[in-house]
Amino acid sequence: MWYSKLDRSLTNGLIRRYQQFIPLDVNANIVSINEGDTPLIRLRSLSSHKLNITVYGKYEGSNPTGSFKDRGMTVAISNALAAGNRAIICASTGNTSASAAAYAARAGLVAFVLIPEGKIAVGKLAQAIAHGAHVIQINGNFDDGMMLVKDLAKTEQIAIVNSVNKYRLHGQKTAAFEIIDVLHRSPDFHYLPVGNAGNISAYWMGYQEYHLAGHSKNLPVMIGCQASGAAPFVRGEIVLEPDTIATAIRIGNPQSWDLAWEASQNSQGWFLECSDHEILAAQKLLAEQEGIFCEPASAASVAGLVADLANNKIPPDSTVVCTLTGAGLKDPDSALLNGPAPMSVSADLESVKRTILDNIS
Ligand SMILES: Cc1ncc(COP(=O)(O)O)c(C=O)c1O
Repeated sequence: MWYSKLDRSLTNGLIRRYQQFIPLDVNANIVSINEGDTPLIRLRSLSSHKLNITVYGKYEGSNPTGSFKDRGMTVAISNALAAGNRAIICASTGNTSASAAAYAARAGLVAFVLIPEGKIAVGKLAQAIAHGAHVIQINGNFDDGMMLVKDLAKTEQIAIVNSVNKYRLHGQKTAAFEIIDVLHRSPDFHYLPVGNAGNISAYWMGYQEYHLAGHSKNLPVMIGCQASGAAPFVRGEIVLEPDTIATAIRIGNPQSWDLAWEASQNSQGWFLECSDHEILAAQKLLAEQEGIFCEPASAASVAGLVADLANNKIPPDSTVVCTLTGAGLKDPDSALLNGPAPMSVSADLESVKRTILDNIS
């Protein structure tokens, strides 16, 4: 599918653009904030001329609320509204709550979000509050919140908009469509950060559907990257006390367990773990060498690729895509904590000049 600049402004979000692939209630009014159509950026520092390996970052931070969640939320909220719901609910490590709050605001729905107290990045909390969601902090982790939300929805007329909502994955799969629309094929390898495992499942669904529809001849190998302290797929079992600096993927009991295994196995892929140190190093590489500021969890995909490149797991002549799931400004605290402190210099020309000359080489 091809769009000129003018067409793009008229597409008004991914539901209209990929309508034939998206299940939507016939009565639905589309709730969109022009999500999707995110850039696929060549990552020069990871690509290799010598080996003819080209690496791209799919930068999902340029979605309206700054993460890939908006792709799923436009479909989930449009359907929730059409089904007559007045309220929506989600458990969240932060980005789902920000996105749910924004789309609910646009739809005129009441939003409730359950978050682990003290464990979500400040930018995401600010978003949920700004969009008027009812923010409920629990003294438990995401997995506890998810269980509560599922129990609540059994008795209350309230739509769950977590990725267990079947419409979410249908929205999120469109990122795979966009990659094929640009490359005119699937990449050979696709790296993703994995938490609740909805996104890796959605991409695999998208790659398969577009392949079946004749838009690509090949399918990618799917690689799921987890933080070492929250790596249930690597361990092969639920992790009871998940912990990582990458709060967005601090999840021990992924809801899309079976779908994600299917994606990994059917694509001949694998799961790997990255230490917090490796994740922060990848975040720094992206920010300092590529000009892309993404949040720590997003950088897990690149951390995984860096490790696999070092182990020669990527053969010559490969095209690789890493999804960069969310924007860096979501989590300013971790950037400030892990970067150098700003320099303090007195406000005179000589001092400022000396500081510049000392640092220019
Ligand atoms: C920035 C970011 N990256 C990755 C993930 C993981 O996605 P999934 O839970 O679909 O595996 C999340 C989930 O919240 C996220 O917010």
